[in-house]
Amino acid sequence: MIFDSSVFEIPIIKNVIVYDETDSTNNRAKEYGKNGCVDGTLIVSDCQTGGRGRMGRSFSSPSGEGIYMSLLLKPDIDASLISEITLLSGLAISRALKIQYNINTSIKWPNDLLINGKKITGILTEKCEDFIVIGIGINVNNKKFDEGIADIATSLYLETGKEYERETMIKDIINEFSDLYYTFLTEQNLKSIIEEYNSKLISYDKDIYIIPHELTDKLNNSYQITDDSLPIHHCMGIAPDGSLICRDSAGKLSQINSGEISVRNVVI
Ligand code: BTN
Repeated sequence: MIFDSSVFEIPIIKNVIVYDETDSTNNRAKEYGKNGCVDGTLIVSDCQTGGRGRMGRSFSSPSGEGIYMSLLLKPDIDASLISEITLLSGLAISRALKIQYNINTSIKWPNDLLINGKKITGILTEKCEDFIVIGIGINVNNKKFDEGIADIATSLYLETGKEYERETMIKDIINEFSDLYYTFLTEQNLKSIIEEYNSKLISYDKDIYIIPHELTDKLNNSYQITDDSLPIHHCMGIAPDGSLICRDSAGKLSQINSGEISVRNVVI
């Protein structure tokens, strides 16, 4: 993979390590982190043989098609704030795609990006010792997906008919992330981006099902489900701590955290 070295001009990036192939850039980042690498180490691979997603899922990572990268950071913040950085990462990708490529994406809280209801991006944030690893996977130039994920995954190529240079796109995303990250380190909450995040949130002001993780894999793959056994809530958007504010049918408000549940729109 040829890497655009101008990514080094972004102050947040101190070191870039590029692989042609690795099992998972998150695994490599964790190894480098445990061996004391610097804050701001970016690991990129052309493909992954064991790309990992949230909840133990795999992330399809074929060569020459997607972006697979992990950013190792050592933010001086309370561990309880780390999930907020994951939300920033999703917003950074969404911003970069809109500003640089005029591609509209919606956010499926907490951090999947969707186009036309199908997933193009997944983010896996992991905390380890004194550092965090933000793993980002983006379906960029994929021409097709295997049966089984073809109905829930898409790529920028499939949605726009164009191929994109992955190296430049990585730089665009890191640029956006950098702005959001430094503001967050000062403010230590998401207040300043709530309105923008909610404007992209696919569930905002819609009825949703709140699904415990143990149930998600049993449901069909579509982001739209109908299941009378699950209570319906109304999504009110994110709170300053990144949790999702929901109102139940009795009007009671609650805040849910991404570790415990996922959400699906009742009607998209
Ligand atoms: C998800 O969809 O649940 C998250 C997917 C995260 C995939 C990225 S690709 C780069 C990094 N390395 C991994 O093994 N996973 C993340």
